[in-house]
Amino acid sequence: MSVIKILPSLLCANHGNLAGEIKRLTLAGVDYFHMDVMDGDFVPNFGLGTEIFKTVREHTNIPMDTHLMIRNPAKHIKLFRELGSEIITIHPEADSHCTKTLQLIRETGATAGIAINPETSVESIKALLPLCGHILIMTVNPGFGGQKFMESTVDKIATLGKLATEYKFSLAVDGGINPELIRRFVPMGVTNFVLGSALFRQNPEDVIREIKN
Ligand code: DX5
Ligand code: ZN
Repeated sequence: MSVIKILPSLLCANHGNLAGEIKRLTLAGVDYFHMDVMDGDFVPNFGLGTEIFKTVREHTNIPMDTHLMIRNPAKHIKLFRELGSEIITIHPEADSHCTKTLQLIRETGATAGIAINPETSVESIKALLPLCGHILIMTVNPGFGGQKFMESTVDKIATLGKLATEYKFSLAVDGGINPELIRRFVPMGVTNFVLGSALFRQNPEDVIREIKN
């Protein structure tokens, strides 16, 4: 069993055949479904609604990793936990009571995570690390699939990669990720890779096989 975890971003899947996409990704051996929830306010786009979570639950047992790109996430934590999220990640830039929200996520039994935008520094979130079981580094500006990976985020990946063992969090990257970048970031301590366009613009099975090998 590989230590690398592959998380397809369902935002980028073919929604005309969502059940089929979920089933084939399950067979291909993905580790989580990455669920991008957007409010059209914190980010300039709308993302997956609750009905998509239900569709995932109906067709697979693969856990869901929920990335909340919404303001004031606290009031929706219980809902996303009940919809089957195993990891719930919030943006500190969108929540003025992060500590409380992370605590709330932990109380539901889910893993609590924070996602940080390209311009958010490690220093600014350091106090939250003891509360987090998961850190997601945004390697594009959040809101849309298909953007280009931002090289300016690499220093932050290196810094958080070094802190992951001490603070016991899993480390993820999200945005413009492809097999070549995975090869580059595994030695730096990244374990969870969100893949959108790099996975869905070709045959997902082939890409997953290439990564797992
Ligand atoms: C962007 C989302 C990502 C995105 C990934 O705001 O958080 O999960 O859909 O898609 P790619 O890999 O195409 O950047
Ligand atoms: Zn995401």
